[in-house]
Amino acid sequence: MTRKSNWKSEFSLGIGPIDRQHQQIFERLLAIENSVEKRDPWHILGFLVRELADQLKFHFAVEEALLELAGYPGLASHDDGHRRLMKGVAELEASLRKQGGTGDLAVFFEDWFLRHVLHEDRAYVEFLRERLPQALNTP
Ligand SMILES: [Fe+2]
Ligand SMILES: [Fe+2]
Repeated sequence: MTRKSNWKSEFSLGIGPIDRQHQQIFERLLAIENSVEKRDPWHILGFLVRELADQLKFHFAVEEALLELAGYPGLASHDDGHRRLMKGVAELEASLRKQGGTGDLAVFFEDWFLRHVLHEDRAYVEFLRERLPQALNTP
């Protein structure tokens, strides 16, 4: 995917707080990749991965609360996607701890970025725009 690249405005959904969280998670993944490449010791790499897990947990809670408030009909399957990614970050942590390889990181990057941000999240934007326009006007 777009590893080694910067966050681009076309990745944005047009919902300020959500976009900022996506961008921070994207940057955390780049930092993890950089840490793997530098062969940082586990206490450094592991710390970044724990921070990623915390950021994701918070991000998913915010999104789920927003979608619930809006009455989003696809909430249950969207939640499943979030659970899949939390499982994915636990697997990523285990694999990085064991081998320090970037293979699983690339897979996670794609799953998180392409599937979650560009596909699954983009699917709720129109609904939110109609049902909860004030969420989209948040700077
Ligand atoms: Fe998201
Ligand atoms: Fe989501």
